[in-house]
Amino acid sequence: MKNSSDTFKALISHCKEYGYVFPSSEVYDGLGAVYDYGPYGSELKNNIKQFWWNSMVRMHENIVGIDSAIFMHPKIWKASGHVDAFNDPLIDNKTSKKRYRADVLIEDHVAKIEAKIEKEVAKAQKRFGDAFNREEFVTTNGRVLANQEKIDTIMKRFTEATESSNLEEIRQIIIDLEIACPESGSREWTDVRQFNLMFSTEMGSVTSDANKIYLRPETAQGIFVNFLNVQKSSRQKIPFGIAQIGKAFRNEIVARQFIFRMREFEQMEMQFFVRPGDQMKWYEEWKSRRLSWHKALGSPAEKLQFYDHPNLAHYADAAVDIQFQFPFGFKELEGIHSRTDFDLSKHEEFSGKKMQYFDHELDKSYVPYVVETSIGCDRTFLAVLSNAYCEEEVPNAKGGTDTRVVLKIPAALAPVKVAVLPLVNRDGMPEKAGEIIANLKYDFNCQRDDKQTIGKRYRRQDAIGTPFCVTVDTETLENDTVTLRDRDTMEQVRLPINELKAKIGEKVSLNELLKQL
Ligand code: GAP
Repeated sequence: MKNSSDTFKALISHCKEYGYVFPSSEVYDGLGAVYDYGPYGSELKNNIKQFWWNSMVRMHENIVGIDSAIFMHPKIWKASGHVDAFNDPLIDNKTSKKRYRADVLIEDHVAKIEAKIEKEVAKAQKRFGDAFNREEFVTTNGRVLANQEKIDTIMKRFTEATESSNLEEIRQIIIDLEIACPESGSREWTDVRQFNLMFSTEMGSVTSDANKIYLRPETAQGIFVNFLNVQKSSRQKIPFGIAQIGKAFRNEIVARQFIFRMREFEQMEMQFFVRPGDQMKWYEEWKSRRLSWHKALGSPAEKLQFYDHPNLAHYADAAVDIQFQFPFGFKELEGIHSRTDFDLSKHEEFSGKKMQYFDHELDKSYVPYVVETSIGCDRTFLAVLSNAYCEEEVPNAKGGTDTRVVLKIPAALAPVKVAVLPLVNRDGMPEKAGEIIANLKYDFNCQRDDKQTIGKRYRRQDAIGTPFCVTVDTETLENDTVTLRDRDTMEQVRLPINELKAKIGEKVSLNELLKQL
């Protein structure tokens, strides 16, 4: 049995071998924290995006979508606070010359203490079996309490230092905790400095500061600056939302954990504009709707949790993460933020243009408040795949067992919905397979698979995550029936070819997921 770190490594190599995700520019030894999606990966990603888009735009009469440009006026990033405050605290190790995020070094240290607590819990669980009560154990066990106290003390100091932007104190915490460079083991650290995460480039042919523009670090600002254009052209009344899917760019320093933290990634964001004073009601509403979305996507409830932000950004009056249990622990997958009227007011101030809405019911104008839902498409992709990846023992033809690797991706999201396999490449079977594909391809992404033995082909489709395999055999040629194999149960049923579309359709439709919302 693999531990979660080995399973994660296995998933990463599986993604490469089966055309899900490749390191970008691999022939040139790759580019740090940038990845390319392969044939199956891009299909899965499109399906995730479609599910999100339909759940927002199609399912809500008061949400509309846009597709704004990546390049935007540089003043936008000044107004939003990104030029001055979108920073990470960085520290260099003098021996290895490696650069780290100071906050991550401290968080990793805390994670190690948390792991010690979990080890105690696991030991006790084994000892007491069914009678084990976690809550009681963690509130009474001496070693757990001592470790928890260490964590609380570090986090209190760290929070205070962060809130007061006290970089010297952040460095001192690293020194006091005797944190060593993971590479060299040395404790020789430089000062902590702030580092802006935005990528910049020049627009036009003249290189000068006046022509400096940024690659957007979030899609949200494209929504804010279009707020009135969209509201007027789509005749929406408050409360209403604007949704957008698009690329975002951040010069992440600690870029690791595969596609979890990338320098180029994709966001799916929705800004919901509400009356001032109504924001907490809508914040709670969107927390609940978004959690339901994750469950409909197939994430088990026990792998999802809310995490309230202990420190609120200056523009927010409430913020929560939906965390998912990735193979490396519970981490942020989506953020839900009540952003007040901060962004629209700032754009009013910096652009000199009104960002107000006239509310006929109240007979007055105001700058709307905003509740934002912001989810990473790539992180959702990783959540889906890490939840789907299974290594199972299955019986083989010789009476023993084989290990099969199967991606149990929810059928509606699977890149290929149905593989059509002629049992042999003669006797009219390939032609029959072709006819079946020609009939199904308008409704489903189909694939013909005719190489190697039928057993190997089933394994290959399991590894890709194809929910259904249709096999064309001798009986097909006699009575127009085929076998339909289910990826998860491996059971096969025989049915007439003309029933395939309905049978597969009911299982792979995105609408079935949408109806769960
Ligand atoms: N507009 C709000 C905003 O951008 P955020 O918490 O910085 O909020 C939202 O980002 C989501 O975008 C995160 O929950 C995460 O899923 C995704 N995300 C952020 N940075 C990322 C990165 N470097 N790589 C992949 N996904 C990222």
